[in-house]
Amino acid sequence: MKILITAGPTREKIDPVRYISNYSSGKMGYALAEAAVRKGHKVTLVSGPVSLVPPKSVKLISVESAAEMACEVRRLAKSADLIIMAAAVADYTSAKFAKDKIKKKKAVLSIKLKKTEDILAGLGKSKKKGQMLVGFAAETSDLLRNAKLKIEKKNLDWIVANEVGRKDRGFSSDNNAATLISREGKKIVLPLQSKKLLAEEILKIIVRQAFQPVIN
Ligand code: PMT
Repeated sequence: MKILITAGPTREKIDPVRYISNYSSGKMGYALAEAAVRKGHKVTLVSGPVSLVPPKSVKLISVESAAEMACEVRRLAKSADLIIMAAAVADYTSAKFAKDKIKKKKAVLSIKLKKTEDILAGLGKSKKKGQMLVGFAAETSDLLRNAKLKIEKKNLDWIVANEVGRKDRGFSSDNNAATLISREGKKIVLPLQSKKLLAEEILKIIVRQAFQPVIN
């Protein structure tokens, strides 16, 4: 299969020396890419700024902002059989880029933010016949309920719901736990384990479903 995977954070510039970002290390997305090439798939990885070495045989496309990621993903999605969005795309970006460094004058400084494009929702709208779309849901509360809402809102085939805000899993950790939820409501709980093993499990489940014959 031709698989497109996103990983890592995005950086949203405020001025020439500052940006808004998050704690994503890219480990989850890179582990998925590694698991996919090991199974013989053709993998393109669109990655935000991380300090990881990309797996061999993966085509790496490095981006910085949500807008750049949106642009690359939109272009590459057309030829992908399976798309997995593991990137932690910033939901907001600075409304205005200050071309000079913002000076330390005010005691309280407000920065106006505007919404970024929802890349995954866009892919859901333009999904080709036979293409599989998998999103992640990073939640600190109501994990399954929020994840299910995202399946519908973004027209996904599967969502990987993972808890964030804890040290032993989620952002930056080497380990993670997840519940896979399918569009049809199938739920598969994957306990805490290394991101490498978890990635293999996630891929196995999703690829198996992709090859299941349609029974009328
Ligand atoms: O990188 P690591 O340190 O290994 O951490 C892994 C992880 C916690 C980042 C990963 O497992 C994860 O949960 N990734 C998704 C993070 C996220 O942005 O979740 P969300 O619930 O806010 O977004 C839902 C989905 O929409 C995600 O697939 C996201 O990629 C996508 N999205 C979000 C915002 C946006 N503007 N465009 C998007 O496409």
